[in-house]
Amino acid sequence: MLTFRRALIFAACIITVLFLVTRSHTTPTKADIIPPQDGERTKTGYVPTNPVSTSSTGKALSAAGRKKGSGQQIIQDLSRASLRDKLEYQFPYDVESKFPAYIWQTWKYTPASGDFGENFRPAEASWSEKHPGFIHEVITDQVAVHLLRHLYTSVPEVLEAYNALPMPVLKADFFRYLILLARGGVYSDIDTWALKSAAEWLPESVPRESIGLVIGIEADPDRPDWADWYSRRIQFCQWTIQSKPGHPVLREIVANITQETLNKKANGSLKGFKDNKVIEFTGPAVWTDTIFNFLNDEKYFDMSTGKGNITWREFSGMTAAKKVGDVVVLPITSFSPGVQQMGAGDYDDPMAFVKHEFEGTWKPENLRHIGVEVSK
Ligand SMILES: *[C@@H]1O[C@H](CO)[C@@H](O)[C@H](O)[C@H]1NC(C)=O
Ligand SMILES: *[C@@H]1O[C@H](CO)[C@@H](O)[C@H](O)[C@H]1NC(C)=O
Ligand SMILES: *[C@@H]1O[C@H](CO)[C@@H](O)[C@H](O)[C@H]1NC(C)=O
Repeated sequence: MLTFRRALIFAACIITVLFLVTRSHTTPTKADIIPPQDGERTKTGYVPTNPVSTSSTGKALSAAGRKKGSGQQIIQDLSRASLRDKLEYQFPYDVESKFPAYIWQTWKYTPASGDFGENFRPAEASWSEKHPGFIHEVITDQVAVHLLRHLYTSVPEVLEAYNALPMPVLKADFFRYLILLARGGVYSDIDTWALKSAAEWLPESVPRESIGLVIGIEADPDRPDWADWYSRRIQFCQWTIQSKPGHPVLREIVANITQETLNKKANGSLKGFKDNKVIEFTGPAVWTDTIFNFLNDEKYFDMSTGKGNITWREFSGMTAAKKVGDVVVLPITSFSPGVQQMGAGDYDDPMAFVKHEFEGTWKPENLRHIGVEVSK
């Protein structure tokens, strides 16, 4: 039944998507003026063999695919390409490109709506205030559907997977990886405050053209029973992420969630999917695993240095940013200040960049609260 109200909402969605899509062609450059700061404090000795992604299977594609304006023919040839190759072709990664000046958030309502929620307004506003010159978008579920349909037209598996996800929390998780893979910039949950501009997150001495992904630590529980509380000994947070478009970690997690979803859809296990599996399926557990797999992938890193694999030990107890290849890992204070444990500093710590409003206490189940609220 197409009521007048629905027709209006639909029209508003279309206009918003058109607006986003046309504007995204004039890529903003503000983030590029990120000033360098105090040194790259720690090095692990791992050097990326080729910081720009190289797919071992997609060589024919990569050469042609990276060229601008390579035509329709190649797109047709892609119909039998693997999911990862299609994603690489569609969203090529260039580590030397600029960090796009986008702030992406998702919520049930736009800030223009009376239903937005007064308690979120100051937090949402902090992102605009700290990022003049950035494009700041709060994407609703309805707009997300249209935006993704535009961005992922040529990778229909991704759209099928997104539509098949049975819970809003899963879609909210998936959306952040999808938008960063396609457009880059900063994604941050709607209940986060920007304490410092993303332009100040990276240490000064780290050249911007050598970094493609900036992540923070969610949990570093130095206690024997850590597994009772967290899924991984070091857990990277995914409520705030900064990336350049096409980063291999994002490509991999998008491919992973797409395949896992379609497999589950095919064998009927999406129905009756349990809340407590979200962390492994789309949340911080698979995010953390994907990052570690990348850091130990000989396709990207020279693993012959004799130093062995990068593990949680590399990042435990860190108080300064750490660069590994084209990834910068920020200490726990940066995205989790004020939690009063696991070595995190307070909100006024110079390394505190983003404040996350946890409802209740610092418990794993509360870490995932945002998705629970993003219901239809
Ligand atoms: C997705 O990632 C998880 C965690 O690393 C892994 O166990 C799983 O096999 C991956 N699935 C696919 C389809 O790549
Ligand atoms: C369905 O597929 C998923 C993803 O591959 C797998 O983890 C799960 O064990 C399968 N379930 C059944 C009942 O076959
Ligand atoms: C390092 O990681 C790779 C990939 O995860 C694994 O195959 C290998 O066994 C690991 N090596 C060591 C020494 O742990």
